[in-house]
Amino acid sequence: MRVLVTGGAGYIGSHTILELMAQGHDVCVLDNYSNASPEVLTRVRALSNGTIADFKGDIRDAKTLDDIMATFRPEAVIHFAGLKAVGESQEKPLHYYDVNVSGTLTLLHAMGRVGCRRIVFSSSATVYGEPDYLPCDEAHPTRPMSVYGRSKLMVEDILKDWAAAHPAASAVILRYFNPVGAHASTRIGEDPQDIPNNLMPYIAQVAVGKRDKLTIFGDDYDTADGTGLRDYIHVVDLARAHVAALDYAARKAGARPFNIGTGQSYSVKDMVAAFSRACGKDIPTVIAGRRSGDIAAIHADATRAKDELGWTASHTLDDMTASTWAWQSANPNGYDD
Ligand code: NAD
Ligand code: UFG
Repeated sequence: MRVLVTGGAGYIGSHTILELMAQGHDVCVLDNYSNASPEVLTRVRALSNGTIADFKGDIRDAKTLDDIMATFRPEAVIHFAGLKAVGESQEKPLHYYDVNVSGTLTLLHAMGRVGCRRIVFSSSATVYGEPDYLPCDEAHPTRPMSVYGRSKLMVEDILKDWAAAHPAASAVILRYFNPVGAHASTRIGEDPQDIPNNLMPYIAQVAVGKRDKLTIFGDDYDTADGTGLRDYIHVVDLARAHVAALDYAARKAGARPFNIGTGQSYSVKDMVAAFSRACGKDIPTVIAGRRSGDIAAIHADATRAKDELGWTASHTLDDMTASTWAWQSANPNGYDD
């Protein structure tokens, strides 16, 4: 299939392109490089030995999208492009709604002009908010607690209305849990441009000596060791979920959300201990207060993805920490190395 990958130079997008190409799909990338290095696609091309068409441009720019639609004529779109920092979304709500929501509307209009009616969308477990029950299935109420989370839920609603209005349209909504890890080649991985917001890249930067210590946000949660529990998923498993979602979109019309997680959760302290095993070093930590907006615990019921997409995660926690360490130690300065 000809697949347009928006945000394809990003962390999850770059891993997904490799899996798509391995399955024989034709890939075209649109990215504005606001949170990615052009070096990413150079490395992905070297790893895949294949051709990747790419366009530099903004998802909100209808003219750029029309050019891509006319030259590449995608049969499906995987839509990663967007902003993802929860804290920043609270400070710049209009910017987040503009990129994440208006950007998707611009994309759907451009797809409509060439009759492309298949989309796989990057949503997030953050749409659930504080869970009422665990594991969290797709029927769980959605109560996002940030602008970022609300922007994702708005797009989910838009996609449901869009699919209802076009009987042949398919929107596969993937609600990612916590993506971590890196490609086995050590050539691509997560490369935060600033101080990492997320746990795993922060720990990796402590291990490589770029930061002194990890601050653990709260050890007074109602969990076994008092720290937050999350469902971490290896980025290569997540990338493969997109390939499965594309196959599903070709078979099934309608809009449907799927949890993409492992169904297991680990605490912050578990993650520190696992990373320490992987890198053979102590990870210094300090306990601080809770981070505003954090929940105590969440993990996925991913049964629907197994039954309907034929997808399950296969990487272990040790695979996640070992691959993160291999990437970080081979590229201490990320794509600047
Ligand atoms: P990322 O920032 O690495 O990738 C996003 C890509 O989109 C980047 O390459 C960036 O340059 C590009 N981009 C941003 N704004 C753009 C615009 N206006 N026009 C064109 N390109 C633009 O993030 P990621 O971790 O790969 O996440 C991909 C998607 O998955 C995002 O939509 C994110 O919200 C979602 N998601 C991520 C996580 C996570 O923890 N990483 C969890 C749940 C959902
Ligand atoms: N944590 C720390 N110290 C840090 C960073 C994180 O203790 O420096 C803790 C958090 O308090 C939380 C856990 O580590 O208990 C995981 O935090 P992350 O920031 O890595 O991940 P979140 O679960 O908060 O959120 C992530 C993404 C969201 C996404 C969500 C669900 O940041 O965008 O997963 O997919 F929506």
